Amino acid sequence: MDGRRARAMTVNSFSSVSLEPALVLWSLGRDSARYALFRHAPTFGINVLAFDQVELSTRCARQDDLNGAGAQWTERESGAVFVEGAIARFDCRVTAVHEAGDHEIIVAQVLDFDTPREAPALVFNRSAYGQI
Ligand SMILES: Cc1cc2nc3c(=O)[nH]c(=O)nc-3n(C[C@H](O)[C@H](O)[C@H](O)COP(=O)(O)O)c2cc1C
Repeated sequence: MDGRRARAMTVNSFSSVSLEPALVLWSLGRDSARYALFRHAPTFGINVLAFDQVELSTRCARQDDLNGAGAQWTERESGAVFVEGAIARFDCRVTAVHEAGDHEIIVAQVLDFDTPREAPALVFNRSAYGQI
């Protein structure tokens, strides 16, 4: 570690929206302690975790510090954070935020992405972790 810090949050709401332009979304709970941080971030990274990263997912649901969660990561020019070991990573710039009940839907354009690893993906279904 070289003293740099990055913030993260485990989310399951990530989804693709549009191919042209490439848009994705995720929804942010309004009662999250991380609400202000992510509501106002102009860019962010989406990291699709592998099944063997289930502990990282659990930790990032409890706390926001990626170093504390034990992750190795790099920061992109945009400010988005890419996590080592993830199977797909998206460098995203926010284009719209929509109020939706107790969440905000955050829509973003994909500036860049990579798929650095082939491994079973971590999924969360019926309140349990699994793999596909
Ligand atoms: C598998 C999983 C998926 C989650 N998906 C979301 C999500 O899509 N959006 C969200 O706001 N919180 C989601 N959460 C909850 C957050 O990760 C976090 O636990 C919650 O915001 C409470 O912590 P905080 O108040 O420190 O943010 C998810 C948690 C887990 C374990």
